[in-house]
Amino acid sequence: MTRRRRAPFVAGNWKMNLGLREAADLSRKIVEARASVPEATLVLIPPYTALAAVAGAIAGSDVGLGAQDLYWEKQGAFTGEVSGPMLRDAGCGYVLVGHSERRQLFGETDETVGRKTRAALESGLTPIVCVGEVLEERDAGRALERIDAQLAKGLGGLSKGDLSCIVIAYEPVWAIGTGRTATPVQAEEVHAHIRQWIADSYGNEAAACAIILYGGSVKPANSYPLFRENDIDGFLVGGASLDAGGFIGIVGEALRAHREEK
Ligand code: 13P
Repeated sequence: MTRRRRAPFVAGNWKMNLGLREAADLSRKIVEARASVPEATLVLIPPYTALAAVAGAIAGSDVGLGAQDLYWEKQGAFTGEVSGPMLRDAGCGYVLVGHSERRQLFGETDETVGRKTRAALESGLTPIVCVGEVLEERDAGRALERIDAQLAKGLGGLSKGDLSCIVIAYEPVWAIGTGRTATPVQAEEVHAHIRQWIADSYGNEAAACAIILYGGSVKPANSYPLFRENDIDGFLVGGASLDAGGFIGIVGEALRAHREEK
């Protein structure tokens, strides 16, 4: 599928890390360094407790803010949960849905991911829908089948009209926090498959518009070759996003690949 490549989209998932002061410091450093990577889209995804501190530190910049999860109801007796409207109120434009840690450690299913995706869109948030196979599925040759099932349910049966530009993050579970990255060829195979799946389900326009991120042990040293692949539009970064130099280094290397394409 021919399409114009966009500048990299890079989101930092801070997971359950950083207190208020550290979160604000890191955000300020990223806002400062942002001038060196002006074309890229940057999104910071701190824990809930630091959303307000990060929102304050990035105010006036074009760095985006996201949350790590949401609940599908808007309000009510749901102790411990946070809704889409609340995240909008906190300044979020994005929300992760179905991260593999939520799936593996907290019982998230393809069905609950679908409900959350719909709720995010209804609240005016851009969901970053996470998919990815575990090692046994890859070894059994069932990675693509698993991704298809996650997409079918995780997009919540949305109709063509509901979906304009979607953000999908492909994170092979065996590559998260392990130091073992998918090779560019392995990642591209799945990214191209995801884009084709979107084309088949939602049409070529939605597929061309979709932003498909790779996640799993991304570092400055591997972001250049990964971003050179046709269907890798950016990254969802865990560990390396906790350091401004690492995060901006990843963005800079992806941008270098992007500029060379022009
Ligand atoms: P690491 O970059 O630490 O492997 O984490 C990836 C991830 O889970 C991002 O959401």
